[in-house]
Amino acid sequence: EPKEKEKRLAELQTKNTGFWPRKIFKWLEGNVDDSPRIPEARGSIESFRNEAFFIPLYQLYLTFGGIFRLTFGPKSFLIVSDPTIAKHILKDNSKAYSKGILAEILDFVMGKGLIPADGELWRIRRRTIVPAVHLKYVVEMIGLFGRATDRLCKKLEAAAANGEDVEMESLFSRLTLDIIGKAVFNYEFDSLNIDTGIVKAVYIVLREAEDRSVAPIPVWEIPIWKDISPKLKKVNAALKLVNDTLDDLIAICKRMVDEEELQFHEEYINEQDPSILHFLLASGDDVSSKQLRDDLMTLLIAGHETSAAVLTWTFYLLAKEPSVMAKLQDEVDSVLGDRFPTMEDMKKLKYTTRVINESLRLYPQPPVLIRRSLEDDLLGKYPIKRDEDIFISVWNLHHCPSRWEDADKFNPERWPLDGPNPNETNQNFSYLPFGGGPRKCIGDQFATFENVVAVAMLVRRFNFQMALGAPSVEMTTGATIHTTEGLVMSVTCRTRPASNSINSDSEATPVSR
Ligand code: HEM
Repeated sequence: EPKEKEKRLAELQTKNTGFWPRKIFKWLEGNVDDSPRIPEARGSIESFRNEAFFIPLYQLYLTFGGIFRLTFGPKSFLIVSDPTIAKHILKDNSKAYSKGILAEILDFVMGKGLIPADGELWRIRRRTIVPAVHLKYVVEMIGLFGRATDRLCKKLEAAAANGEDVEMESLFSRLTLDIIGKAVFNYEFDSLNIDTGIVKAVYIVLREAEDRSVAPIPVWEIPIWKDISPKLKKVNAALKLVNDTLDDLIAICKRMVDEEELQFHEEYINEQDPSILHFLLASGDDVSSKQLRDDLMTLLIAGHETSAAVLTWTFYLLAKEPSVMAKLQDEVDSVLGDRFPTMEDMKKLKYTTRVINESLRLYPQPPVLIRRSLEDDLLGKYPIKRDEDIFISVWNLHHCPSRWEDADKFNPERWPLDGPNPNETNQNFSYLPFGGGPRKCIGDQFATFENVVAVAMLVRRFNFQMALGAPSVEMTTGATIHTTEGLVMSVTCRTRPASNSINSDSEATPVSR
């Protein structure tokens, strides 16, 4: 039939030039659309209320396939779970997509920071910030990860001695906050030990960002609501405290940079303050700019919640799979013993790295990536218009039953130890732990080492089990996947075998106990 229409169109074009034939021609032209239509699922917001929203999206994916439209009344989203289409959006034609809704939701906290920024501004800031995460910086950070995890170990030792259960999700959140504060702007939150006003303020701001990511109606945009809502007042006060603190830190750091005599170069690092902020100021970044503060806030949030979630779900998975835990502890005993990990150890802790790779497959953080089309495009065989809101479901890519054998099983062995570290490129975009294309995570190596160090040091010193009577572990979501009621575990000190580490390299600090 489309062929028929085309023929009739061609006839009209050549034979008829009058007013009515031209009108008919126009009408027909609009209707000669033989392009395939994207399968459409209609949803009710209610069905998405009760559980983490990426779970119903998985069920719909099994029915509708790698790309479908999800319509709620007048609003619709494209849900992409196909690796080739994901690659097209994230990499091959990435210029045609922006961060869309994400930038709108996060504007209050990240402004035009690196995650929400688009276009030329994003390009400039990415070029400025990426060099700060150089190899020497990452090596320096491995020491910081060890010291911070050691403080967590002390807390767990006390809990183990008293026979107290511990809620690991909040402890991991504090561990990664302490790490990222020091790593990004040389600030000691010490949130594992004290609950200062600034720590509380950071949590109020983070919670608000999470709430906004899942709110069905943007109440924060309603003018009167803005002024009378007690919650928003609290959020604004917290935001002011965090911003003022950042301004102070920028000023302190600027003074340090002005006084130092170090020459700026590619792998520049100040030993007293190796932070990203110090690198940026030394490289000549504008201190007074709101942009710098937006970027620092972005790095804080990007590096905090994600790593905390990875550690939480890794320990949940390990508690459920004792054989993996035993193998992991064997590796750590032989490679590391009681030393603080070094860069050399990162290459040797192969199974530990596979555990993190596999945890990120089962619990990707964030579970969906958000984009908006800036122009018309073709996704697979489907033409799409500009202004489409798109969710790339990393959860679906990572759980696809035809791509992964025993897709729901926690099986680090699926990644051979002598094979390459799995990433989006060598897995053809069916595995996207850190995204892909030009907007790929800039902290992927930092985060992987942070998680490897924390997991290795913790499993060397303790055995972890789900606590008796602990609430069952269910998922809920904001930007990352959280548990609904915490990860309550019982922790016991391990009687650990003497280290037969062949790598007792002399510069590594022994853990004081
Ligand atoms: C972007 C994951 C840790 C900084 C991303 C993206 C993912 C991701 C999936 C891509 C987002 C998108 O395409 O929409 C993770 C995970 C982490 C982690 C799973 C921990 C395990 C970190 C850390 C930092 C960081 C520690 C900072 C030191 C960023 C930034 C971007 C980003 C700045 C935006 C890059 C851009 O748009 O140019 N991350 N990340 N991330 N991540 Fe991470």
